[in-house]
Amino acid sequence: MTNESVKQQVREAFDRRVAVRVYNDQTIPREDVEFILDTAWLSPSSVGLEGWRFLVLDREKIAELKSAIKDVAWGAQPQLDTASHFVILLAEKNARYDSQAIRESLIRRGLGEGEALTSRIDLYKSFQVRDMQMADEPRALWDWTAKQTYIALGNMMTTASLLGIDSCPIEGFEQTVVNQKLADLGWINPDKEAVATLLSLGYRLKDPKHPRSRKPRQEVVEWV
Ligand SMILES: Cc1cc2nc3c(=O)[nH]c(=O)nc-3n(C[C@H](O)[C@H](O)[C@H](O)COP(=O)(O)O)c2cc1C
Repeated sequence: MTNESVKQQVREAFDRRVAVRVYNDQTIPREDVEFILDTAWLSPSSVGLEGWRFLVLDREKIAELKSAIKDVAWGAQPQLDTASHFVILLAEKNARYDSQAIRESLIRRGLGEGEALTSRIDLYKSFQVRDMQMADEPRALWDWTAKQTYIALGNMMTTASLLGIDSCPIEGFEQTVVNQKLADLGWINPDKEAVATLLSLGYRLKDPKHPRSRKPRQEVVEWV
């Protein structure tokens, strides 16, 4: 495949992708959902932490989610009624430089012992304390891991679009209530993780009424 044909394919996927909120009753094949999930799993994260989990729901589980959160998820109404699948993107809490999660990420990357481990943790300490000013603020630490889940979110949406599958990212919901409901369902451990976003997936019922709107390119892209 030439660069030109890759570019064309990617561009078409970006042109095709719009936030699709109402889906038809077609179900996405399991292998396509798994492929989309691969691109979340393989996404990069700051310091290689992978401070995330992705819960995948089919129609049966979406029905459970719907009865638990519909009242407090204003941004997910038609999606909960019609989507083929949902992904719940969870971000890890308390990923401080001295946490077990950071230590495990270093072990995974072969830096888990002796001087290599200590000096890397010192580096992450100054990164979190001096550079990012977040080490002692649970909300800031969670925002840091939550930001990274959006990389996986973007990759999943692009991959879905390349496969002719529609999607909608969703953060229009009452976070504390949704986290509590998911904990009640036994789907999340609220001490360790919280929901960053939801992603609905399916096939569009119809094309959007309005053309896609974007700021002029020159307003947002500038060569310095
Ligand atoms: C992080 C994020 C959160 C969003 N949350 C919602 C939501 O809760 N409900 C919804 O219907 N759309 C939601 N959207 C979709 C946006 O409204 C939509 O992407 C935007 O208007 C641009 O339109 P387009 O995606 O069709 O290009 C969200 C989009 C993003 C990126």
